[in-house]
Amino acid sequence: MSDEAEQIAEAGVIRIAEAADTTALHDTELELLGKRSRLGELKASLRDLEPEERKSLGAALHSARTKIEAAVAERKSALEAVARRARLESERLDLTESLGRANIGHAHPITQTWERLEDVFVGMGYRVADGPEVETDWFNFEALNLPPSHPARSLWDTLYLDPTGLDGVGPEQLLLRTHTSPVQARTMLSAVREGWGPPIYVVCPGRVYRRDTADSTHLPVFHQIEGLVIDRGITMGDLSGTIETFTKAYFGEALTSRMRPSYFPFTEPSAEFDISGPDGEWLELGGCGMVHPNVLASCGLDPEEWSGFAFGFGIDRLAKVRHEVEDLRDFITNDQRFLEQF
Ligand code: DAH
Repeated sequence: MSDEAEQIAEAGVIRIAEAADTTALHDTELELLGKRSRLGELKASLRDLEPEERKSLGAALHSARTKIEAAVAERKSALEAVARRARLESERLDLTESLGRANIGHAHPITQTWERLEDVFVGMGYRVADGPEVETDWFNFEALNLPPSHPARSLWDTLYLDPTGLDGVGPEQLLLRTHTSPVQARTMLSAVREGWGPPIYVVCPGRVYRRDTADSTHLPVFHQIEGLVIDRGITMGDLSGTIETFTKAYFGEALTSRMRPSYFPFTEPSAEFDISGPDGEWLELGGCGMVHPNVLASCGLDPEEWSGFAFGFGIDRLAKVRHEVEDLRDFITNDQRFLEQF
């Protein structure tokens, strides 16, 4: 009878482990340990046995019950864990899904280009400076060696804020800056006033305005980045090396740059610079040159002591070249199908 009790326990443990859910487990437990179970019958038979037999069967029954109870407890907690996991899974809230991650958006391609340019120049040791978009005639022109009567002023189709002077500012005294070059003058003056330079190594990215009709290569509102270096013994060679280093850092090792003689009132000598693609085609990028002594003097620097170079070019045009965009106006029409490509 003791052997029978042990066999019942062994077979029972297997059935318990296979119980599919808590109801099935409960039924199996009753079947194995209930009053009408075989173990129940054996227990009831104990009182008719001789003391010796009673003792050994009693021990066997106790051990069988202990094994079965342990198996039931183990299976029960396993089934509960499965149920808990299923409940958590069904109650889970996917917050990323409701945020609409796929449509979160990104910086505008011009902003991306602007930031990339800052990164490249900061990597070369430059600081980033800025100035106001509403500028005075003095900073936009006069400080840059362009006195009021200078014929080269017509190179910039200027938008004036008080063209007649009737608003009290003075005729053509306040304007929307036509280039980022006035930030050169502001930077030199504040370096001298605040005593942090020269040496000066800055880039000045920003928005500029011209009285122009938008077409595929022009926008009336666009972006430029200006570079200014003032130090001792700066030469045209430093300028050319800087442009070449920038070209490679921004466009990659395969591209190169060149300078062509040109004219700007604020530099002497002046040049325009181009970049070439692997196909050998030259693309005009911007202007540059050695800062004119008159500009240094206007901004409180002694041209005998300090020299430097400056350059400026269009950010929009750069983005156009880099991403092979056909028409500059695509950047400002906010067509999602266009913008999503960047
Ligand atoms: N300001 C010029 C323009 O808008 C570009 C330029 C040319 C900037 C020569 C410079 C420079 O700093 O040295 O056409």
